[in-house]
Amino acid sequence: MNGYRCLACNTEQSADFAVFVCPVCGGNLDITYDYAAIESDFGEGEGIFRYQTLLPCSDPGAALPLTIGNTPLHPVRRLGASAGLDNIWLKDETGNPSSSIKDRASAVALLRAAETGADTVAVASTGNAGSSTACLAAAMGLHAVVFVPETAPAAKLAQSLAYGARVLAVRGSYDDAYDLCLRECDRRGWFNRSTGFNPFTREGKKTASFEIWEQLGQVPDRVIVPTGDGNILSGIWKGWRDLHAAGFVDRLPKIDCAQSAGSAAICRAIASIRESGIDPDWRSVDIESVAASTVADSISVDQPRDGLAAVRAVIESGGEPVVVSDDEILASIGELASKAGVFAEPAAAAPWAAAKQLAANGQAGADETIVLLITGNGLKDVPAVPVGKPELVDANSD
Ligand SMILES: Cc1ncc(COP(=O)(O)O)c(C=O)c1O
Ligand SMILES: [Zn+2]
Repeated sequence: MNGYRCLACNTEQSADFAVFVCPVCGGNLDITYDYAAIESDFGEGEGIFRYQTLLPCSDPGAALPLTIGNTPLHPVRRLGASAGLDNIWLKDETGNPSSSIKDRASAVALLRAAETGADTVAVASTGNAGSSTACLAAAMGLHAVVFVPETAPAAKLAQSLAYGARVLAVRGSYDDAYDLCLRECDRRGWFNRSTGFNPFTREGKKTASFEIWEQLGQVPDRVIVPTGDGNILSGIWKGWRDLHAAGFVDRLPKIDCAQSAGSAAICRAIASIRESGIDPDWRSVDIESVAASTVADSISVDQPRDGLAAVRAVIESGGEPVVVSDDEILASIGELASKAGVFAEPAAAAPWAAAKQLAANGQAGADETIVLLITGNGLKDVPAVPVGKPELVDANSD
């Protein structure tokens, strides 16, 4: 890596800058690279570490004995055809070690933590970033402290506890857990892996774009991303921009933002910038908080912690803000499972709900190549899934 650039005011810092946010305006930082020096091919390595020339860390080898990334991309014709879309692909992140895309981010962030000599990594989480941090900390021999809202799904808490993390269930929302985690990291000197605030998480998530490009053999027309804080979305966009800057691709996909109507701060901000017709000055864009409430716990966020980067990504890529209802999200879980064989948690089903809406509104053409990012496994929040009950039969019945 070269250094850091503020996503709001563009102020640059060198690679040895040790603080996570911009000292001038408090904005989130983006890690920069010397793209001219990137080789024309990716190297060897396991999972995401194949891409280490475009990562701010080196291959950990045996220090991280889990494979991160290298997830499948499924062509799902039957699912696509049900909405008149001929070219739908699922980037299936459910097979990562802790069953969500968050492992890509945790890997890069925890390697950074280890490099700085930290032995305790803390994270605020709706559930998945926590279980992922706990998983990778266990694999690397670090301590993890996970701050979650007390309402986090039981399976995500069970994962974190099983991996041996200290789990603090905060009476309040994810946003309350986030602020408490920030305060405790300041007081105790813990490494803070929280989404948005920590610039290293975006670097891990961007590797999903590198894989999509290699697996598809081309740049898709759209990638649809389920969005709460906006860090996955900004990471996906960063991945494509990296590929472009390093000369691997000559065009970029549109990045669409899928949010629940009950938690749509980023979509609203994008829509209002588009309606204004004025080119935004990113230093003064204000993303209004919402009082989030949605069945999709992973994308239930009052104040998006990487909101500016996500708004910029959708606008700069020419993508769409797509707001879907909780009912559409729940219906999409069943459709993904029964028509494609992929069981997604509620947040991870939002991209399919969004794809159907884009098709119905004529915003996505039937022949567009569309990748849906399936970010987390359905087993993480079974009570949220309206699957009904099995039929109870006697063992000796016919
Ligand atoms: C499964 C899943 N999908 C989507 C998201 C949303 O990511 P972000 O908050 O970076 O927008 C999360 C975040 O927790 C998640 O766990
Ligand atoms: Zn700044």
